[in-house]
Amino acid sequence: MKRRIGILTSGGDCPGLNAAIRGVARAAYEMFDAEIIGIHDGYRGLIERDFSLMTRSQFSGILTLGGTILGTSRTPFRNMRVIGEDNVDKVAAMKKTYKELNLDCLITLGGNGTHKTANLLSEEGLNVIGLPKTIDNDIFGTDFTFGFHTANDIATEVIDRIHSTAASHGRCMVIEIMGNKAGWLTLYSGVAGGADAILIPEIPYDINKVAEVVQRRAENNKAFTIIAVAEGAMDKAEAKLKKKEREARRAAEHFSASAYVAKQLTELVGVEARSVVPGHIQRGGTPSAYDRVLSTQFGVHAAKLIRDGIFGVTVALKGNEITHNPLSEVAGVAKLVPPDHQLVTTAKSIGIIFGD
Ligand code: F6P
Repeated sequence: MKRRIGILTSGGDCPGLNAAIRGVARAAYEMFDAEIIGIHDGYRGLIERDFSLMTRSQFSGILTLGGTILGTSRTPFRNMRVIGEDNVDKVAAMKKTYKELNLDCLITLGGNGTHKTANLLSEEGLNVIGLPKTIDNDIFGTDFTFGFHTANDIATEVIDRIHSTAASHGRCMVIEIMGNKAGWLTLYSGVAGGADAILIPEIPYDINKVAEVVQRRAENNKAFTIIAVAEGAMDKAEAKLKKKEREARRAAEHFSASAYVAKQLTELVGVEARSVVPGHIQRGGTPSAYDRVLSTQFGVHAAKLIRDGIFGVTVALKGNEITHNPLSEVAGVAKLVPPDHQLVTTAKSIGIIFGD
């Protein structure tokens, strides 16, 4: 039986997207008579009818490739059901394209925003299957998302490299790790990179407590300090502000999270504190071996779901098992770091401070 599968990647890119696309395609071609339509730049392509019929050869040689061969965008957005100035009913447009293409299923590779839209389309009666990607690892119901481990390897290497130069100069280095809402990447790379302090959005910090560590290390002749700070980390005063107020304050002062911490430490302790922002380096390039395997497993599981006619779900890793969860349970729920998470307590047990 022929099955027409639409596939798209949406939201911020991450390593492993192409490996997952390849996993879906290769397994689908093996299991049934598959026709795969690549939808360009995420949901934008579905709204604007921008797609192409893919050939088998297009899924070759992409296992190790960073980014996404399909392109991505952050469309649609917040109030998707609200018709904007362009007067386009985006939900209706996506449904229309799906019907016109005569799709049996739509595969969406993405993070939290992508899953919200996927769930909405599923509620509208489309056959949708999600694949959880993001370097933030903040999708509910899966132990890990693909992309996270690669970003963790990169962020850890950044911290390692900063370590040696910090030690040589006796500096305090504040390294800003990606993650606006969730601190998973900062937590893991901070522990892996031997940071002295880890500051994450889920645990608002008191800068005086961070300053104490810098001071103590200086007094112990360990003149350098490594601080891993998530881009969304905030101090206790900022945490009391509304999100918009916090953002406005940061924007007005031109401070990133790391620059803010470095400035305060320089003032409080009188050390030379520098901020380092590796930024999108953490998202670029080839996936790690772990992510190639996980992406392939996720992709193959999605193909099996299509074969078995199971839709309205997103693929997940639980323990050692690849499984799936209802989209309705995952959409709109971010998986944040619980302040009493075992890795937080482990880090605290070896003297890493969180500033709480
Ligand atoms: O969701 C992944 C992520 O890299 C976040 O860690 C970060 O806050 C955000 O995307 C940055 O998005 P953009 O690349 O659109 O600036």
